[in-house]
Amino acid sequence: MAVKQAQHGVLPEASHDEAARQSFVFGFSKHVMGQVTPGNRAAYENRVAPAFAKREGRAPQDRHELRKAMERDGQFQVSSALQRTTQEMLWDSVGESIERQWDTLRDRAHHFTSGKTRGTLALDPALAMPSYIGRNDHHAMPGGYSTDLADDDIFSGALYDRGAFIYTDGLLGPYMEGSGLSVVKFLRTQFPDLKPRRILELGCTTGATASVLARAFPDAEIQAVDVGAALLRYAHARAEAVGTGVHFSQQNAEHLNFADESFDLVVSNAVLHETASQAIRNIMAECHRVLKNGGAMVHAEQPQFASMDLFKAFTHDWDTYNNNEPFWGTVHDLDLEDLAVGAGFARTDVFQTFAPGAAASAGTVGHVAVDPTKIMGSDRGGGLKFYFGAVK
Ligand SMILES: C[S@@+](CC[C@H](N)C(=O)[O-])C[C@H]1O[C@@H](n2cnc3c(N)ncnc32)[C@H](O)[C@@H]1O
Repeated sequence: MAVKQAQHGVLPEASHDEAARQSFVFGFSKHVMGQVTPGNRAAYENRVAPAFAKREGRAPQDRHELRKAMERDGQFQVSSALQRTTQEMLWDSVGESIERQWDTLRDRAHHFTSGKTRGTLALDPALAMPSYIGRNDHHAMPGGYSTDLADDDIFSGALYDRGAFIYTDGLLGPYMEGSGLSVVKFLRTQFPDLKPRRILELGCTTGATASVLARAFPDAEIQAVDVGAALLRYAHARAEAVGTGVHFSQQNAEHLNFADESFDLVVSNAVLHETASQAIRNIMAECHRVLKNGGAMVHAEQPQFASMDLFKAFTHDWDTYNNNEPFWGTVHDLDLEDLAVGAGFARTDVFQTFAPGAAASAGTVGHVAVDPTKIMGSDRGGGLKFYFGAVK
């Protein structure tokens, strides 16, 4: 990988052999995404679509018909199996490395979170884990977001931090801050006069985005919530290690314990597509409730399928059926404007737009292969990020 991940204190280190294995997995995955998967379009145009037309007397009407037809084709079967295999290999190559340095990493986390700290951590052992998180290992990450094996477990946070860096080819930058930097860039453009006093991040995972927000808005109080205790312990240690003050708490974004009208800004990055369809409605309602009048909610997400041609929508939907992302398809079918309006926002105050993504914001363009016409997510090296939100 051209971009090297920065060692921030709690990031797992890779031994020589572990680094070699991770590098192989990355190279293999890049080969599959770059050389094998693109063959699906030719398979569709040359074999699958003509066979479908012959059989049905028409073209596929939606991405589901297209997918079912593609699932019978050898090219798609091979590319899909390879994509899934490399995904599993990636997590394994990082997980085993973390297990080897388990004690060291926990000691480092203790070191950064003991004594006087800039931020805080409040865990809630009684939190009812939403089933869409507790019963699913999203993107095939072993243990998912909710596994919490010990009082000082930080495994899932460390796994995500290193695994996502490899998955994205370092596109998010050495500190994995590209998504946060993209959010800040977007905020500065969309709301140039914004001077938030209180900011809430929903689904903070490793806390990388929260730390970027803390640096970009030094006068604001930053609150960041997630449901995973081991993620939050890691996020707290990571934020302290990089010198930022963030207040982390274990909360379900559907039922926050913050007061009504207590935030100027609510932000999420890549969270909504991992929630069930009732949950996303509850989260929107909470965004509306906790925002002050004039405050904004800003969600960085994948764009809706309605904006894509059928084959692209089918490609983006791969994760729903093959990458443990069961809500990906249904969430991306939702009418986001109706969703926000249903939560209490005025239709005229809802926005949906594309903006420069993680690579452009982290300065990694030129180091990694980024296509400015593609979208981050399933396309991996995509240059654009989709933003959806509303002003209250
Ligand atoms: C793909 S990760 C988000 C990455 C992160 N926001 C970033 O910028 O790097 C999705 C996160 O959302 C969290 N999440 C999902 N549903 C949630 C909910 N109802 N309440 C709080 N967090 C939630 C998951 O636990 C997970 O950590």
